Amino acid sequence: MIKKQITYDYNNALAKNTGGRSGITLEEIESYAERTKQIHETLISRRGKGELVFYDLPYGKDDVKKVKKVGNEIKTRMGDRLENLLIIGIGGSSLGGIALSRALCHPFHNFLPKQKRQGPRIFFAENIDPDEIKGLFDVLDPETTAVNIISKSGTTAEPMANFLLFQKYMTEKIGADNFKLQVVATTDPKKGTMREIANELGLQTLKVPEGVGGRFSVLSHVGLFPAYMAGIDIDLLLEGASLMDKVCSSSKLLENPAYTNGVIHYHLHTTKGVNMAVLMPYSSSLSEVSVWYRQLLAESLGKKYSLSGEIVYAGQTPIKAVGAVDQHSQIQLYREGPFDKIITVLKVQNFKNFLNIPTLYEEHEGLSYLGGHTLNELFQAEQIATVHALIKSGRPVVELSLPEINPHTVGQLFYLYEVQTVFSGYLYNVNSLDQPGVEAGKNYTYSILGRKGYEKVWKEEAGLQKKDSRYIIP
Ligand code: PA5
Repeated sequence: MIKKQITYDYNNALAKNTGGRSGITLEEIESYAERTKQIHETLISRRGKGELVFYDLPYGKDDVKKVKKVGNEIKTRMGDRLENLLIIGIGGSSLGGIALSRALCHPFHNFLPKQKRQGPRIFFAENIDPDEIKGLFDVLDPETTAVNIISKSGTTAEPMANFLLFQKYMTEKIGADNFKLQVVATTDPKKGTMREIANELGLQTLKVPEGVGGRFSVLSHVGLFPAYMAGIDIDLLLEGASLMDKVCSSSKLLENPAYTNGVIHYHLHTTKGVNMAVLMPYSSSLSEVSVWYRQLLAESLGKKYSLSGEIVYAGQTPIKAVGAVDQHSQIQLYREGPFDKIITVLKVQNFKNFLNIPTLYEEHEGLSYLGGHTLNELFQAEQIATVHALIKSGRPVVELSLPEINPHTVGQLFYLYEVQTVFSGYLYNVNSLDQPGVEAGKNYTYSILGRKGYEKVWKEEAGLQKKDSRYIIP
């Protein structure tokens, strides 16, 4: 396994390479050096005061021990019966686990026979789509299923509704006592509805650390428990993150990939109308990292108010793309549409497998060139060609290169983006740790469903919702 540092390359974001229209000059980047130093000092000081807890998650030796202990207890308790782990959570409570399992498990983990799998099959109940949840009832035998409910608050409607459904479904089949023995609740260490329920039922618990929002929690119990259960080396994951902590501890802008990438994105956004940030891994396994990144960027930087209370409407729109698939979907727009995107290409230098493309149909000129090459060469050629095509049409590209996909490099990647995000929060002068914009929809839902204390919220809005039938086409 390669434990090398991931590299960050911004050559193709520079104006001299993109033709200037939406590129950045070195002088423009360097003009942020002083501001970067100030932000760096603020971040260091807040970290020291324990206000940015995510920074220190890679050093949580006791957390790793606890996760392993709880995981091993469930494994021992259920023994050979343990076939499935169902993770119930939404947003920051689930996206890290999804990204980790997709990146680091066998691509078809759940379809492998038990003896070839590193752990139970992994399922996520994220949405509240009744057909999907009923579908999970159809495939998950309560006898063989462990459940990890993850909710910091315990009042988020989606995971809690799903938890109630699974509690009923499983209790009816295996009884309340067995159900309790098969559940781990990851929640606030002290307070909240889920903590109270867990105490009442006597459930095994793990914690969402105080001061860590869901989207910064992947390296806490929230992401570590599903990862450990899926057979991922969580020590290596944290080791990779701690390596990136060292890399990102430099106050010198051009030595710090998180800061340089933050500055490039911020500058192109605020001065050149580059409103969108695409994350495009050339790897299927990393596709869910783009979904995790989407939440991190959107919830952290998408803000109406600045730290000083002015209306700013900040934030770039994060976009998920996957190479090579999106070459046949999105690239047309990225090359010829508006100059409103910066594309980050995630490159993988070494895949676990080499596949030789067979030499067949030599008489067909349109196919014969493939024979004798590896699938790896084709993938790499497409990635190089796409980056070149993008910069030829004046689109800025930055490249993050992973020596290979393993827990160490993926840990680095998560950490890099977390640091970049809090740093960018200061560039935009917004609070990257809150999410006031998600509250309104939650409160309306509570009101519609009659939650105590929220009765009036929806009644006051309902007038606005009256639909004019003239604008509805039957
Ligand atoms: O990043 C966040 O803070 C959110 O996405 C939360 O994780 C999400 O809303 C779920 O909240 P909770 O863990 O309280 O159920």
